[in-house]
Amino acid sequence: MEKTFLMVKPDGVQRNLIGEIVSRFESKGFTLVGGKLMQITQELAEQHYGEHKERPFFGELVEFITSGPVFAMVWEGENVISTARLMMGATNPKESAPGTIRGDFAVTVGKNIIHGSDSSESAVREINLFFKEEELVSYDKSI
Ligand code: CMP
Repeated sequence: MEKTFLMVKPDGVQRNLIGEIVSRFESKGFTLVGGKLMQITQELAEQHYGEHKERPFFGELVEFITSGPVFAMVWEGENVISTARLMMGATNPKESAPGTIRGDFAVTVGKNIIHGSDSSESAVREINLFFKEEELVSYDKSI
């Protein structure tokens, strides 16, 4: 089954949005298979956002993501990578539709509440960067 990496950013944690965000993905029907509240180190931030290293906002991005705890998660389900991106809304909250997470809760592109893997390659890379295999569970949701 497809898996994706999602992370409530420091602004989402500070605004008490962890429950709201988890609830949206649970209600949709996806399965939470890993989750932890953690402080991202400088090194992990630079690895995670490595593809943006040359962008002018890279320093700001790393500073923000290390500024307070994040809630890192792994979710599982059919087409979860692309569906989670739809549920998150456009990266820039100026363009994210009402009803999406960013459309409902964010105003600026830097503080946009949530991160989600944008492809199956990114999902594998990001899950492995944040979680050890034994931190993920596998279970049957039939009960
Ligand atoms: P995210 O999905 O976490 O991936 C890269 C992040 O860079 C993105 O969300 C935005 O929060 C951030 N970002 C993109 N453009 C800018 C910008 N112009 N200034 C600051 N941050 C940005």
